[in-house]
Amino acid sequence: MEKIQVLTDGVLDTVAQSTIDSYAAAAANGLAKLTDGTGAGNDFLGWVKLPEEITLSLLDDINATAASLRENCEVVVAIGIGGSYLGAKAVIEALGNSFAAYKHQGTQVLFAGQNIGEDYLAELQEYLADKKFGIIVISKSGTTTEPAIAFRILKEQLEKQLGTEEARKRIVAITDEHRGALRTLANTEGYKTYVIPDNVGGRFSVLTPVGLLPIAVAGYDIQALVNGAVEMEKATLNGSDKSALTYAMTRNALYNNGKKIEILVNYNPKLHFLAEWWKQLYGESEGKDNKGIFPAAVDNTTDLHSMGQWIQEGERTIFETVISVENSQRELRIPFDEANLDGLNYIAGKRIDEVNKMAELGTRLAHIDGGVPNIRIVIPAIEASVLGQLIYFFEAACGISGYILDVNPFNQPGVEAYKRNMFALLKKPGYEKETEAIQKKLGK
Ligand code: PA5
Repeated sequence: MEKIQVLTDGVLDTVAQSTIDSYAAAAANGLAKLTDGTGAGNDFLGWVKLPEEITLSLLDDINATAASLRENCEVVVAIGIGGSYLGAKAVIEALGNSFAAYKHQGTQVLFAGQNIGEDYLAELQEYLADKKFGIIVISKSGTTTEPAIAFRILKEQLEKQLGTEEARKRIVAITDEHRGALRTLANTEGYKTYVIPDNVGGRFSVLTPVGLLPIAVAGYDIQALVNGAVEMEKATLNGSDKSALTYAMTRNALYNNGKKIEILVNYNPKLHFLAEWWKQLYGESEGKDNKGIFPAAVDNTTDLHSMGQWIQEGERTIFETVISVENSQRELRIPFDEANLDGLNYIAGKRIDEVNKMAELGTRLAHIDGGVPNIRIVIPAIEASVLGQLIYFFEAACGISGYILDVNPFNQPGVEAYKRNMFALLKKPGYEKETEAIQKKLGK
């Protein structure tokens, strides 16, 4: 299997190699904390050896459930938010055809519960009205409001369409083994269920059934995805692959040099949601205790025509991490045109990908010249096994980087603040005091 590579020569105008190297001990220490469980948040390290612990029987079971959903449904709606949504969405988008998004082997995978959009849900209901559909409802806590609302609405619709008994056969719940409202509901209704391990946090759960089932329903090879992750896990933990260490060291060296914002850049629109997944992974893991790199993302060359100006000449507080894809899956060349009215004959015969690569190289050189350090992550192709490698690499680097930053990379206390206010405003039972306080604040 071809490996991904992390190249850091594009940052050396900003931080010297010796500065990056000065983080080596902290990075090694961070990796040791991940493996020996001596760091903060050590009750959430289940993801560290998760890839190699995934059993064939679990994969077979997931593939069998996916096959049955595919057989019985034209559409499967995966309901979840945050870590219970972004991993599956990222992989399905990356592997899917751009114009038959989520549509494989006759089954379309759509998402809900990742927002509280009334129009979104109403339009989804309308779309599903004349279709055979199924539901995968995913929530580790089993109590998150957004997916709970979406599930209540779609469950009712499915039951109306099929009757309660038949509907039950088309609903799969993925949640905690024992706790939470979704577990109680799933047990009461007798749904097929999968467990999210206690020691795997939401944003590290893409390689559990949370990500694997929707990805399998969409028709992609979850065994290859897991194989890629296993390979990266072994190489990272036995020290033969230093990519995660290098990335963690370099981004911390840049952060401490005033580069507070990291922009993950792609030149392939299929990677848009991989960046969304990455933003959650790094944002929730590092943004705490009033510190942490702000993770942002752009899709190029599209965003060179919107954000390119800011990146080239705006405040010099940013660095870029570019995902470079070596090989595209398809081949398309620019045709020769006798009249040449558009003046494009100078690139006639070239592959589109060659032009894209020149745009990428040209941009990288311009940004480095403009004071934007560049890290490059080179991946051989957008394939399941490569995505597996990339996912594990980003997860491991995130844990190491969080420990270098001296935060607990595995909690997210900050996400509770909006929920408290929302519950108070909605007058949720148990939030009476908060309701009173917030109404006072609002002058009511
Ligand atoms: O990373 C996390 O833990 C969170 O972002 C969760 O994934 C997100 O809040 C959804 O939580 P749950 O799966 O409990 O519904």
